[in-house]
Amino acid sequence: MAMYCGRCQSGHPAGHTSAKLLRKMRYFAATVNWIPELCNMGTKSINRGKMNQNQIFDRNTAWNTLTEFTHSDSLRKHALAVEACLRAYARRFGEDEEKWGVVALLHDFDYEKYPSLEDHPMRGAEILAERGWPDEIRRAILSHASYTGVTRESRLEKALFACDEVAGFITAVALVKPSRSLAEVDAKSVRKKMKDKAFARSVNRDDIVNGAAELGVDLDEHIAFCIDAMKTAANELGLAGQAAQG
Ligand SMILES: [Fe+2]
Ligand SMILES: [Fe+2]
Repeated sequence: MAMYCGRCQSGHPAGHTSAKLLRKMRYFAATVNWIPELCNMGTKSINRGKMNQNQIFDRNTAWNTLTEFTHSDSLRKHALAVEACLRAYARRFGEDEEKWGVVALLHDFDYEKYPSLEDHPMRGAEILAERGWPDEIRRAILSHASYTGVTRESRLEKALFACDEVAGFITAVALVKPSRSLAEVDAKSVRKKMKDKAFARSVNRDDIVNGAAELGVDLDEHIAFCIDAMKTAANELGLAGQAAQG
């Protein structure tokens, strides 16, 4: 006879998973493209949808997924900033620009809905698995958060980690310039602000330094490269200067 969970009434064995076990199960599920029936803190069971073999995993689908889950303007702009950096690095390394851009757009798509360390980015990886997104993309997304235990192996994974925090920091530096424009930002001004502990406290400086090192790019060169990449998307990022934005 099946045992029913008292909390969610689904047919998995009674009792609830611990947070640690839940995290492991979610990681395993996201890695092997399998979604178990989970019950924790009232969350509903997740059933993997049927994969649509004709589904196209392109920028448009990634953008629609991002905007479906993320309504915050700053989070959408963060995704766009990381996308600009990753696309530029893909071109530089002769890699798949579309794939790298998609990973950038999706890396935090679940954050607004599931911001806790227990959930982000594992929930996102589960949702992408439900929708049939390829393992390579989900793995790269999982690897941008060191606590998932998914190590950064590929160049894509290293580039995502390297660009994530620095894109946020460059944005913060641009926003305190009189023109609120990337045109006034250079690597020197970013390095200077990195030493100011009171400035943009939430941005982890070590991640910026270690990210560039893991990618094998000199830190100043990396910062300058990301600034230039973000300049190509300055209008979308709202960092083209007050005059240009009317
Ligand atoms: Fe994240
Ligand atoms: Fe991010």
